Amino acid sequence: MTRKKLIAGNWKMNKTSADAVSLARDLVAAVGTAPEVEVVICPPFTALEAVAKVVDGSLIKLGAQNMHYEASGAFTGEVSAPMLRAIFTTHVILGHSERRTLFGETDELVNKKVLSALKNQLKPILCVGESLAEREAGSTLKVVQTQTERGLEGVSKEQASTLVVAYEPVWAIGTGKVATTEQAQEVHAFIRGLLTKHYGEAISQKVRILYGGSMKPANAPELLAQKDIDGGLIGGASLEARSFVELIKAAAAIA
Ligand code: PGA
Repeated sequence: MTRKKLIAGNWKMNKTSADAVSLARDLVAAVGTAPEVEVVICPPFTALEAVAKVVDGSLIKLGAQNMHYEASGAFTGEVSAPMLRAIFTTHVILGHSERRTLFGETDELVNKKVLSALKNQLKPILCVGESLAEREAGSTLKVVQTQTERGLEGVSKEQASTLVVAYEPVWAIGTGKVATTEQAQEVHAFIRGLLTKHYGEAISQKVRILYGGSMKPANAPELLAQKDIDGGLIGGASLEARSFVELIKAAAAIA
């Protein structure tokens, strides 16, 4: 089974609305009609609506970087799934390691968000990954298993096929240190095995598992050629059209 490669840009807390529109325009011009690869860009909340207008009519999809699990209410500073849906957002990054480490998000909280996203027809990009200390202690697979299984608790078979999982070793994020292809493929295959255990082979073969952590045009071809690496969640290299377009082309070359 061949899964369509997915390249997602996580812009994090970068770009004003005007800067985001300008980058989105460049991306639409360069890859907005290329069908071989699925492309998702995740600007900050303040730029989502403006970017939605730019990508409208192109093949580029829109993602958010976080959300609250409730639909509405007294949650000052938060944004809900229905609010994101109303401005044409289709994907949402959940459980990013920066949310987990800097904002104290637990597996339980991430799970509530995953369930709420799915209920509202948003596709979660569930991030999992070990810290350097955890890798050195030999607990990488255990950490990834806990984050994946707890994050997906209560997700039905039917919902599972729309999921995206991103394996992002925390020590590789924004550090320039990329996991070796063997390290990445090992964990990706392990995650697919977990999905098979819970949802069966047919579903697990449909789920895209992205690699994230210092993915760049130079290291992408080798990573993307691995059997269970179905794309990338790109931070730094997604902030500039040239490098992000090169990554999309690298994925298209393998597709
Ligand atoms: P990076 O970030 O590509 O800058 O390492 C990836 C991510 O955090 O999603």
